[in-house]
Order: sequence, then structure tokens, then C-alpha cells
Amino acid sequence: MENQHEFKNPFRPGAGHTPPYLAGRTKETQEFLRLLTQETILENMVLTGLRGVGKTVLLDAFKPEAIKDKWLWIGTDLSESASISENNISIRLLTDLSVVTSNIVIEKSEAQKIGFASETESIEYTLNFHTLKNIYDNTPGLVSDQLKNLLEVVWECLSMQKPKGLIFAYDEAQNLADHTAKDQYPLSILLDVFQSIQKKGIPFMLVLTGLPTLFPKLVEARTFAERMFRVVFLNRLSTVESKDAILKPIEDTNCPVKLTDDSVDEIVKLSDGYPYFIQFICREVYDAFVQKISVGKEPSIPVEEIVRKLDTDFFAGRWARATDRQRALLYVIARLKNCELEFAVHEIVDLSKEILEKPFSSSHVNQMLSSLSNAGIVYKNRYGKYSFAVPLLGQFIQRQEIETIKWHGA
Ligand SMILES: Nc1ncnc2c1ncn2[C@@H]1O[C@H](COP(=O)(O)OP(=O)(O)O)[C@@H](O)[C@H]1O
Ligand SMILES: [Mg+2]
Repeated sequence: MENQHEFKNPFRPGAGHTPPYLAGRTKETQEFLRLLTQETILENMVLTGLRGVGKTVLLDAFKPEAIKDKWLWIGTDLSESASISENNISIRLLTDLSVVTSNIVIEKSEAQKIGFASETESIEYTLNFHTLKNIYDNTPGLVSDQLKNLLEVVWECLSMQKPKGLIFAYDEAQNLADHTAKDQYPLSILLDVFQSIQKKGIPFMLVLTGLPTLFPKLVEARTFAERMFRVVFLNRLSTVESKDAILKPIEDTNCPVKLTDDSVDEIVKLSDGYPYFIQFICREVYDAFVQKISVGKEPSIPVEEIVRKLDTDFFAGRWARATDRQRALLYVIARLKNCELEFAVHEIVDLSKEILEKPFSSSHVNQMLSSLSNAGIVYKNRYGKYSFAVPLLGQFIQRQEIETIKWHGA
């Protein structure tokens, strides 16, 4: 018998929230499945793209695929603190590893072989965090030597369960960084360690996701990263995929909301195919439609209200954090025809001469773009041009009061 449940608003805007229907992403998933067929790991994955494009939820969707294919999976969100020091990244790896190793029991003789366990004790050891940490601490050499040895030991123990390999999945990996001034190189160490153990045939694979700054950062730390990673750039959804994302969640016969083709087209246009915006707009549309229907009115899409809400909920916080001069710069960028694609320093300088009383010099623009890049607002692509790291930011800036910008910019 059909369950006459009350149908709730299915849309889920929010970082990392699993969508009611994951639209598109078949090519990207196939690419991931291809990497799973590697016996010797030659390619790791970087999954990159703008904020809200669906990196986190796609990474989540990869996990069951990998497990079905007999891979083990560990990983987390890389908060900034994980990358501050070499010690932090080691602890991070040990902690994550212990999740899949802690039920492994090692005999005393084996424990001694790998340089652990005292002569007098006659107990069994499980490969829990504590044991891992002991092995790590008892290995002589640099942090990278300690980690390499630890990973080899772990694989020796894990391989008895005959998995195909182990995936280290790290989200928000653009937070990884070396700190030359403090003589701390956690990012370089991570790359060195994985390159080395992969060369030895150990099937440990990195899957890193992050903003478009991620891959350039990896290559800057170690040039071999260029060959070590297969970069998959997540784009916005196509029109057909966008329609799937909008319609599939409300296909259920119990769903009170039906959308006309025109309404769907309108949502596709407003969202420009960006998954976060699709979820956001659809959630608003759904509620608005339910209200109108309940009072017997013909529902329509409240475009203005939605745009205003999106501005306050999504963009305003980022805008508020920018300085007056940064806003003036962003305002100039938003006036460039190609601002939603990419823009060059000289284009900004030229236009600023036309529209600002106090124009920008190119060194000033370079300097400001680099701080905006650290703030996650823009990023530099490999050809030295810049793009917004936040989708549809240009349109938002164009909606802002021009008076205030002139006032600050002039
Ligand atoms: N393929 C997709 N189809 C439908 N909705 C999606 C898709 N990918 C992401 N979303 C939705 O978009 C929003 C942002 O996804 P998220 O993975 O957090 O993006 P990112 O990690 O790139 O910032 C979430 O609300 C999520 O449910
Ligand atoms: Mg994310």
C-alpha cells in the first residue's frame, strides 16, 4: 500500500547537503571509476570548481562507488589547522588511518618486527591510533620518512584483507599550504610521501577537492604534482541536467507543486545552472507555490524576492568583508563584458581610467587581486588571467548601489 506521507520541500541548499537528486556528473564519475582500475597508482584526482558547484556532494557520492569496488576509504574536511604544521598533517593522516586499521590485530612478533612492542609484554596489539603513533614516533628520520614507513607498515597489515587499495579523500584541500617563513612544509610532505609510496606499488590514492586555487598550489609546491593528478573541473549543469535537478525531486505523485515549462525555464535562467542556486531557488519557489495554492491563487515565480534573498543569504557576507577599495575594484571588474568568464589585469586598469576618478595602477591591481584570491573571491588561472571564485558574483555586484561605489571609489 502506498504510504500517504506528507510531501515536504525536498530542496536542500547548503554546503555539503546531499541534493534530493544528483543531476549530471556522469563523465566525472566515470573518470573516477577509471582511476579505480589502476593497480599501480599513476594518477590521483583533483576535483575542483567554484563554490557551490557540487564538489563535496560528488565526493560523497564517490565513496559508495569505491567501497563497492573493494576499496577502502578515509578522509575528512581539511580545516586550516590541519595544514599549519608538519606535525598537524601527520596527526591528521594517523587519525584517518586508524579508522580503517584499528580492528587489525598484530602479533607480538610482528609488532617487534616493525619496531614496536617491548620485550617483556606479551599482549596483542591492535593497529589503533596509539599504535600507529608509536610506530611513527619510533621511526628515525624526517617527518616524510616517518610517514612513508608508517604507510608501508599499514599497507602490509591492510593487504591481508585484500582490498584493492585505500583512498584518502580530502575536501577543502585548498587549505593545504607550505609555510616557508615557519620552515613548515606540510603540503610538500604530503605530495612527497604519496609519490614515494605509489612508486613502490602501494595502492594509496589521493582524491583532493577544493577551489580552483588548489591545483596551482599543488604544482607550485612540487612540479611533479602536474603529472601526479588528473584534474576534473566541475562546471555548472547543462540545461537538461538543470531541469533534472529541478524536476526529479518533485516527480512524486504526492507532491503538491507542479511546475510549468515556463517556470522551469525561468529557474534554469536565474540559477545559470549552478547547483547551489538551483537548490536555493527551488526551495523558495516550492514554498511560494504551496502558499499560493493553499489560498487558491495561481502560483508564479517571485523572481525579485528570490534574488533579494539570495543577495542577503549568499553574497552579502562576502561583500561586507571586502574593503571599500576592493569593492571599487570589484565594481570595475563587474563592468567588464567577460567578467563571469575571465579578466586580465590590464583590462581592469584600462576600464578603471574610464569610470573611476581615482583609477588603479597595474601593480595595485595585482596586489589587490592577490589578496582577493586569498579571501577566496577570485582565482588566477594557469594563463595568468583571473576569474571569480564565486559564481554569478558579477551580476550581484552590478545590482549594488552604484552611488556608494562611486563615493568610495572616487
Ligand atoms: N549535481 C547536483 N545536482 C543537484 N544539486 C546539486 C548537485 N551538486 C550539488 N548540488 C547542491 O548544490 C549545493 C552545493 O553543493 P556542494 O557540494 O556543497 O558544493 P561545493 O562543495 O562545490 O561548494 C548543495 O545544496 C547541493 O545539494
Ligand atoms: Mg564543499
